[in-house]
Amino acid sequence: MSYRKFEVDEQQLLEDIMRLRRDVRGNRFTSEPVDEKDLDRILRAALLAPSVGFSQPWRFVDIRDHETKASVAQVFKSENDKAAHLFKDAKHSQYQQLKLEGITEAPINLAVFYQHPQEAVLGQTSMPVAGQYSTICAIQNMWLMARALNIGMGWVSILDGKRVEQLLGADEHHEFVAYLCIGHVDTFYDKPELETLGWEARKAFNEVIFKESLQSKHTDHET
Ligand SMILES: Cc1cc2nc3c(=O)[nH]c(=O)nc-3n(C[C@H](O)[C@H](O)[C@H](O)COP(=O)(O)O)c2cc1C
Repeated sequence: MSYRKFEVDEQQLLEDIMRLRRDVRGNRFTSEPVDEKDLDRILRAALLAPSVGFSQPWRFVDIRDHETKASVAQVFKSENDKAAHLFKDAKHSQYQQLKLEGITEAPINLAVFYQHPQEAVLGQTSMPVAGQYSTICAIQNMWLMARALNIGMGWVSILDGKRVEQLLGADEHHEFVAYLCIGHVDTFYDKPELETLGWEARKAFNEVIFKESLQSKHTDHET
């Protein structure tokens, strides 16, 4: 049997795309239009994602309309104002300085929904949430494809899902999963912005990889 074998430089390229992928917010998007062929490639990358029982439960809404974007931005604003109060002292003032979305700045917004199955899905019978997980696999594919095309993508989750569902005409079978902002950027940071701003540090290998049980840390690798 023959199958495509990837070469060392191709493996390195995939690592580079993963390492240099960034969450992009409104402070980095430019007004340069996105070529529709590029958006098509990003969406087709989504459709290549794995899904439980090959159910492909993802649904995408392509949003360009300024009024719709403004309505979603309002939902963000009210949720973000509430969120700010959950962080205290220095974190509270730092939170208020953060730009956490690019809804109106990005030329393209994509809302991602999970379509609940109407009958049993192979593999999803014990963990129904595998359906939502599948949808998220599609989002990661898009994020990587966008970066490979030098296009930025940001994920906005500070939203009231029910309000977004109403705004975008979702029925009871469709659950809001993610709101993505897509557009060209003036730069891609080489590190997560939240790391640079001192909000969070990248966790060490040994903090998150365990050997045999969650009770014993992996010690084989350099951190
Ligand atoms: C499920 C999910 C939800 C996120 N929601 C937001 C959000 O609402 N606003 C925001 O600015 N970034 C959001 N992000 C982006 C993260 O902040 C970002 O991925 C993280 O800081 C690491 O940075 P990087 O993606 O540039 O590597 C989200 C990311 C994920 C995976």
